[in-house]
Amino acid sequence: SSTDMGEYQHYMIKEIYEQPSVVRRIVQNYFNHDKINISADILKDIKASDRIYILAAGTSMHAGYVGKYLFEELTHIPAEVHIASEFAYHTPLLTAKPFFLMISQSGETADLRACLLKTQKLNYKTLTITNVKTSTLARESNYFLELFAGPEIAVASTKAYVAQVAVLSILCNTLSDQNIDLIKELTKVALSIENFLATQDISSLVHDKITKRNCFYIGRTIDYYTSLEAALKLKEISYIQTEGFAAGELKHGTIALIEEGTPVIALISSKEISKNTRSNLNEVISRGATTMIISLANTSQESDDIILKDVHPLLTPMVMVVPTQLIAYYAALERGNDIDKPRNLAKSVTVE
Ligand code: G6P
Repeated sequence: SSTDMGEYQHYMIKEIYEQPSVVRRIVQNYFNHDKINISADILKDIKASDRIYILAAGTSMHAGYVGKYLFEELTHIPAEVHIASEFAYHTPLLTAKPFFLMISQSGETADLRACLLKTQKLNYKTLTITNVKTSTLARESNYFLELFAGPEIAVASTKAYVAQVAVLSILCNTLSDQNIDLIKELTKVALSIENFLATQDISSLVHDKITKRNCFYIGRTIDYYTSLEAALKLKEISYIQTEGFAAGELKHGTIALIEEGTPVIALISSKEISKNTRSNLNEVISRGATTMIISLANTSQESDDIILKDVHPLLTPMVMVVPTQLIAYYAALERGNDIDKPRNLAKSVTVE
């Protein structure tokens, strides 16, 4: 069954390997011949709104940042992301026609439930994107969209993130006049993840380079958002203090933390940012950093450590995140940590 570990040593690694099939399942569930399985009411309400307020916590919030990017690129509706626990106590200035989008793997996060009570009190509609269709948030929101990721058991979220970005891409593309062929493009994403998982063993790379008690991920634009999730994953299970940083911002202070051997991992998924992110890497190399580069084929250089097959530029987080999940996994494995149940963490947090 889907809650059985099968041949895998941990749920986390099983769930990482499930990601290509999760993406395919989402395609099957959302595309029915030429029809898209998103209710007309959801589309109508979003089209009528002048700003999307995305509310979430943890990994789901990082998917939310990608969602903001997708909303603005594809629908031209401004979108902003809010930390659920902050929004619940301090509502930002709202526009005339806000639309609220909650993202939650479990659908049970108490901080988000507090947000929902607040938006309902203000008489606004909310859509929840969740993996659990019987969850509190799915039941209490006006609308919900399902992730179809299957049960996620490991505390560190992997496949739910990829599923969240996939569903957000379908939602935004449906609202867009760009009409990206997402059946084709999401299938390419599944193939790129599959190809990476089948052909590259990165355990020795992690052993050689992730040797310190701290680490940095850097990236620009959409890679910056991926770097936030990459850093959270490494922190959660390896207990290495990690920060995701906008590549160009590191030099404005934080570069002071770079010492001999500090690992800095760069995410480079587009040509546009490749040159400048690489020059930011050179800045840290000259201060002694140990660097690693994760890139896509069309922007790669031969010496890059991990090169993934190209996907549509708006879908890169789904593939770029996968090596970072494995970096976290192998770093935690080497340290002998409890991978599926990291210390101090719970799968869903039902207190505010
Ligand atoms: C907990 C988990 C995180 C998760 C966050 C949000 O803190 O440990 O992995 O990202 O809650 O959970 P949700 O179910 O709302 O996505």
